[in-house]
Amino acid sequence: MPRLVLYNIGLLATPLGTAPKKGIHQKEISCVKNAWILIEDGRIVQTGTGEPPKADESMDVKGRLVTPGLVDAHTHLVFGGWRQHEMKMKLDGVPYLEILKAGGGILSTVRSTVHSSKEELKEKAAKALREMLGYGTTTAEAKSGYGLCPEEEYKQLEVVRELAKEQPVDLVSTFLGAHALPERYKENREEFVREVAEKMIPYIAENKLAEFCDVFCEKGVFTAEESRVILEAGQKYGLASKIHADEIEAIGGSVLAGEIGAVSAEHLIVCDEAGMNSMAKGGTIACLLPATSFYLGAKFAPAREMIKKGIPVALASDFNPGSCPCLNMQFVMNLGCLKYKMTPEEVLNAVTLNAAAAIHRADVTGTLEPGKYADILIWDAYDLNYIFYRLGSNLLAKVLKKGKVVIDYEKTC
Ligand code: NIG
Ligand code: FE
Repeated sequence: MPRLVLYNIGLLATPLGTAPKKGIHQKEISCVKNAWILIEDGRIVQTGTGEPPKADESMDVKGRLVTPGLVDAHTHLVFGGWRQHEMKMKLDGVPYLEILKAGGGILSTVRSTVHSSKEELKEKAAKALREMLGYGTTTAEAKSGYGLCPEEEYKQLEVVRELAKEQPVDLVSTFLGAHALPERYKENREEFVREVAEKMIPYIAENKLAEFCDVFCEKGVFTAEESRVILEAGQKYGLASKIHADEIEAIGGSVLAGEIGAVSAEHLIVCDEAGMNSMAKGGTIACLLPATSFYLGAKFAPAREMIKKGIPVALASDFNPGSCPCLNMQFVMNLGCLKYKMTPEEVLNAVTLNAAAAIHRADVTGTLEPGKYADILIWDAYDLNYIFYRLGSNLLAKVLKKGKVVIDYEKTC
């Protein structure tokens, strides 16, 4: 297999290892000047400084900044339609959960998704993935949750499975059947919980349609007890747990996350002391979604307190048609610094290694080290602070996925 060497890397900034960084280690980044990376078969063979080794091909990085590809550990990638018709309500101050209660919000996207063919959903998600890759996302999680009935949930997960084979961004699937209570179950919520736990989860596990199970644990959506039933059913069938918790009200989701050893809890805008203690004890990663806080005009999660408590912090986009129609992880990185008061080093960990750990991919991506995929970003920058300081521009020069250049902004057209 031909070997490729990237040389003249002005600054190689990467976390190291496969374990998520927490507490004082959240800021640990290896920064090496004048570095090179040797790649073979899509993986990193060796890294070093100074004179690069001989290889079949070489690429001059021209003294610029190189980091691992970004990992977006929380997206609702597959959905039909958009929700621009809710903009007026949003501007008039109608709360997110009120829109949902009136049959809009998630339920409106469920209707558009159910009315879309698999091909239509696939085309739309593929377009989003191309855009994500263009902003530096080389691995992404993708949730279902706009079907709310067996066939439609499976349809969304099948779309993810097909896309995983057909385009460069690595995908990790999460079953989010309990994303909202379907209108037909309004008077019979126990039966829906049972259907998710006893019918959908076994089918999804058997057909390997997802690796994770998630629930929207929120006031007026699913209670902590219902979430426990669903997540424990998932665990019984080999689906690791994630939970949308404490986004609008803290009703026990983050406490539950720690108790059941959830891999990650997401949002956590109003996470309290009890929730943080439970997550720290259970080894749960806090997957924070600052672009959603920004878009909803909500508070920002207490990231600094979480770091102080020794909870590993990951940041993700939450790309979805309602609370965050944004897939730009560079914007998420800006918000991590500006709104969470995290340092550039802490944020870099949060969008690479910790995010990879939140989707069980830290063995293959999230850092630039021998053995890992050559998922590499070459930035139009020379130091780390610059990419957090600039706002609203795409600061990438090239994106490499498994050693291949998949985006090149330097090519003139
Ligand atoms: O993570 N909060 C629940 N689910 C999504 C929003 C989905 C939607 O509004 O369509 C979220 O923010
Ligand atoms: Fe979400």
